[in-house]
Amino acid sequence: MAPFLQSLSSILFLMALIKLSIMSRISAAGYSPAVFRPSPWQLAHATFYGDDSGSGTMGGACGYGNLLSNGYGTDTAALSSVLFNNGYACGQCFQIRCVQSPFCFKGSPITTVAATNLCPPNWSLDSNNGGWCNPPRTHFDMSKPAFMKIAQWKAGIVPVMYRRVPCARKGGLRFNFQGNGYWLLVYVMNVGGGGDIASLSVKGSKTGWISMSHNWGASYQAFATLSRQALSFRVTSYTSKQTVLAYDVAPSNWNVGMTYEANVNFH
Ligand SMILES: *[C@@H]1O[C@H](CO)[C@@H](O)[C@H](O)[C@H]1NC(C)=O
Repeated sequence: MAPFLQSLSSILFLMALIKLSIMSRISAAGYSPAVFRPSPWQLAHATFYGDDSGSGTMGGACGYGNLLSNGYGTDTAALSSVLFNNGYACGQCFQIRCVQSPFCFKGSPITTVAATNLCPPNWSLDSNNGGWCNPPRTHFDMSKPAFMKIAQWKAGIVPVMYRRVPCARKGGLRFNFQGNGYWLLVYVMNVGGGGDIASLSVKGSKTGWISMSHNWGASYQAFATLSRQALSFRVTSYTSKQTVLAYDVAPSNWNVGMTYEANVNFH
């Protein structure tokens, strides 16, 4: 009995060691210095939508819901479909400055916005007269508070220079749950670094890793029975391809409608 227990415990110990080494390798990759650097400045155009409070920009095609409580603030933008990239651009951060217009503020100040929405094409409008978000135009429909940091709002539309920059986020990755006990739909929010997500996997305390499929915006889904299990997530950045592991983000009594915060993030 005793030798059997001894070998069992040494096997368990070995398994724990192997698991630890795998974990540390993956999380070491997750914490390596950010490979994402600002992109070169490029020319585009910008308009604005919503009101002074930015409340008209809540919701949006990325699915972030309330932008204030979910860490995105009022400086946000809806991207034309060329930039939106079927939702893979959700969460990306851009610096924008107004250029070549008398409505630009002096010194061409820079504002930083997060992509939270799609500016859809409108084919009944000419691409050069109102159909600003029609492909192949690169266009930012900014929140009014963000636009008012670079130009007079009465300009309507201004030429801008823009570039991708890393996103600075407070706290960990946030996961908003929707769906039901057999279908889990997760919105990934408050993403630092590249700000965007390439893929997401979920692991229940009684399951292995389950690869989730891209639903829309920043949401991913798994058709699996995950109720009454603590949930962990494996998140890969779209831009840097880094992977972080977020263990036991949600307790076993998790609920749809709730947002759970991990203690890891991209930088
Ligand atoms: C497209 O533009 C026209 C003209 O401004 C407007 O009436 C219509 O509502 C727009 N369509 C969409 C889908 O926004």
